[in-house]
Amino acid sequence: MGKVRLVGLWRHLGKVVGLRPRGFESRTFRRVYLMMELDVVRFISMNWALITGASSGIGRELALLAAADGYGVVLVAIREGKLQELAKEIDDKFEVKTHIETIDLAAMNSADVLFDSLAHEGIVVDVLVNNAGFGLSGNYIETDAKRERQMIDLNISALTRLTRLFLLGMLSRQHGYIMQVASVAGFFPGAFMTVYYATKAYVLNYAEGLARELKGTGVHVCALCPGVTKTEFFDVAQADGLRKSFKGGSTAHEVAQFGWDAMKRKKVVAVHGFRNRLFIFLSRFVSRAFARSRVADINK
Ligand SMILES: NC(=O)c1ccc[n+]([C@@H]2O[C@H](COP(=O)([O-])OP(=O)(O)OC[C@H]3O[C@@H](n4cnc5c(N)ncnc54)[C@H](OP(=O)(O)O)[C@@H]3O)[C@@H](O)[C@H]2O)c1
Repeated sequence: MGKVRLVGLWRHLGKVVGLRPRGFESRTFRRVYLMMELDVVRFISMNWALITGASSGIGRELALLAAADGYGVVLVAIREGKLQELAKEIDDKFEVKTHIETIDLAAMNSADVLFDSLAHEGIVVDVLVNNAGFGLSGNYIETDAKRERQMIDLNISALTRLTRLFLLGMLSRQHGYIMQVASVAGFFPGAFMTVYYATKAYVLNYAEGLARELKGTGVHVCALCPGVTKTEFFDVAQADGLRKSFKGGSTAHEVAQFGWDAMKRKKVVAVHGFRNRLFIFLSRFVSRAFARSRVADINK
């Protein structure tokens, strides 16, 4: 049993087995009190999934899938209203708890703040989904340097720090799942979205290396690699070139379902879509220069 779970248990069991409050002799009071105790016990024995970037797109769908699977869900993003809407939908549909954390994960120390907040609540995370991320498109030298910094801080730094923090508890419990949302982009050099592609190459390689290191520990890492998916991503990244190159794209639900199933099957790299898998496979037989040019044409 992990340290964090012990701290949570200690906090809550103190309330459960501690001295009964005054008024306990009254039958009605006793009933209400015992129901509250039961709620506390349910809370601490619940398995939790934490999903970053749950306010829209793939993360929102992953949160719904986690709830459908019986996990309590920790919903993390910046837009509180969107998280509250989702929490209400989950409350209406499923018998699980939700917990909202409104936080900018690109901000300094945000992963530690989030981790401490959940430890304080006694929430033990069994499934960590590092999904929050965004892209930035354009000629590299013309892109906004501040936005670029935020993208690296979110797509790489927060993801890495959250993994380290939650992994420790998972290892001590010998159980856990970590989904790192990478991208098909992670397999290629991506001119005109250069830094975004590079962040996803990091996520993919980080996830694969970690998965190998954790073999036999009971903790499983899955790199989900979506292709073009209809979400807010393209508006945020202003990636019109990429959007035009791929008319259509998958729905966020399709991608999330594929990723959630792959993670549970303990798959290390899960590339969504036959065309994407074929594209990656065929790229082995062409030169890097050809791949560079082809992706540049797609992104422009
Ligand atoms: N859509 C695609 O075609 C595609 C393809 C491959 C990979 N991906 C990856 O899939 C993941 C999810 O993207 P999506 O397509 O679902 O896009 P999306 O609809 O734009 O969702 C992005 C999520 O990240 C959250 N987020 C953004 N900045 C944040 C910050 N600083 N702190 C905390 N949360 C933040 C957003 O919420 P708030 O704005 O409320 O913070 C939102 O919930 C990303 O990692 C993306 O790179 C997407």
